[in-house]
Amino acid sequence: MRRFEEKVVLITGAASGIGRATALRLAEEGAKLFCTDLQAEAVEQTVKEAETHGTEATAHVCDVSDPGQAKSAVQACVDRFGRLDVLLNVAGILKMEPTEVASLETWNKILSVNLTGTFLMCQAALPHLLESSGNIVNTSSTAALAGAPWSAAYAASKGGVSAMTRTFAIEFGKKGLRANAVCPGSIKTPMTSRSVLPEGFDSSLLQRLLPLDKARGPETVASTIAFLASEDACHINGEEIRIDGAMLS
Ligand SMILES: NC(=O)c1ccc[n+]([C@@H]2O[C@H](COP(=O)([O-])OP(=O)(O)OC[C@H]3O[C@@H](n4cnc5c(N)ncnc54)[C@H](O)[C@@H]3O)[C@@H](O)[C@H]2O)c1
Repeated sequence: MRRFEEKVVLITGAASGIGRATALRLAEEGAKLFCTDLQAEAVEQTVKEAETHGTEATAHVCDVSDPGQAKSAVQACVDRFGRLDVLLNVAGILKMEPTEVASLETWNKILSVNLTGTFLMCQAALPHLLESSGNIVNTSSTAALAGAPWSAAYAASKGGVSAMTRTFAIEFGKKGLRANAVCPGSIKTPMTSRSVLPEGFDSSLLQRLLPLDKARGPETVASTIAFLASEDACHINGEEIRIDGAMLS
């Protein structure tokens, strides 16, 4: 399948996990890629690997929570490739803290990257996406759909991402722009392997965070993002798709 031939795609969080797997999936499908992340060396690595599929790809360092950097990343993408067809907001952070002791610093940091960062990238990309009748795929989470223990800030940020995605679908649908989201749950990535459960946690609550059969890798989310961003999903707008191995079924 080469669904992204001649399409220009900007991906945030492309250095690791789901973002990296998505970049590689879209490279296989012929996309021209503008890969951004905080991690300079690792995003270069993604680009090198993407290029082995014969596509053009550029690495760019960007903190999505910084309005100036979000704008410059979109401008640099358009300067490089002349257009923008798809924006994939994948960058995100997670820290688990029991609510009684959660710090305001953690709350602000998580909201600024996951929610404000997604908003800033969408806002900067909108004029270009409207011009190309393009689309956005945001990365929400199962935490937006059901209670996620020790993750109040993360769940609030992802609930915001889901709400914002539906808002964009309504606000810009008539103008030819689509906005959808994926809601992964329990995907094996550096984020989940790094996550530390709070000391003395109630293990009965852990069931809420586990898939029914087994945890799967980031390529299972990448294939869903690729579908939503492609013409195969041309009549899907304002939707969110759960990729969680029946965790919330
Ligand atoms: N892994 C899961 O089970 C799971 C479940 C639900 C949602 N998600 C979401 O999927 C997305 C990707 O997560 P992942 O599991 O691949 O994690 P990951 O840690 O492997 O990748 C996240 C990437 O985002 C980048 N990033 C972090 N802060 C940034 C910032 N301020 N600006 C730019 N880039 C930044 C990191 O450098 C990293 O490369 C996140 O939005 C996460 O919340 C993951």
